[in-house]
Amino acid sequence: MITVEICMGSSCYSRGNSQSLEIVENYIKEKKLEDQIKLQGKLCLENCSEGPNIIVNGNIHRRCNPECVIDLISHYMEKK
Ligand code: FES
Repeated sequence: MITVEICMGSSCYSRGNSQSLEIVENYIKEKKLEDQIKLQGKLCLENCSEGPNIIVNGNIHRRCNPECVIDLISHYMEKK
């Protein structure tokens, strides 16, 4: 099980995390990964200038654009 926390603060949300949330939700549904990926929203991580921020397994990933969110998750899935 990996944990993906997407910053839903207004800065990250408007700079890509609204799309990233949708992409990850669809990915989980399509691949039936509900029991392998725990998806959560986060309040502002106070790191807005380096956003959009996504935390995976406690590690913060800065400037994580919607284009790379699946690559990021796949990377963690392989390491499991
Ligand atoms: S809105 Fe994401 S760090 Fe502030």
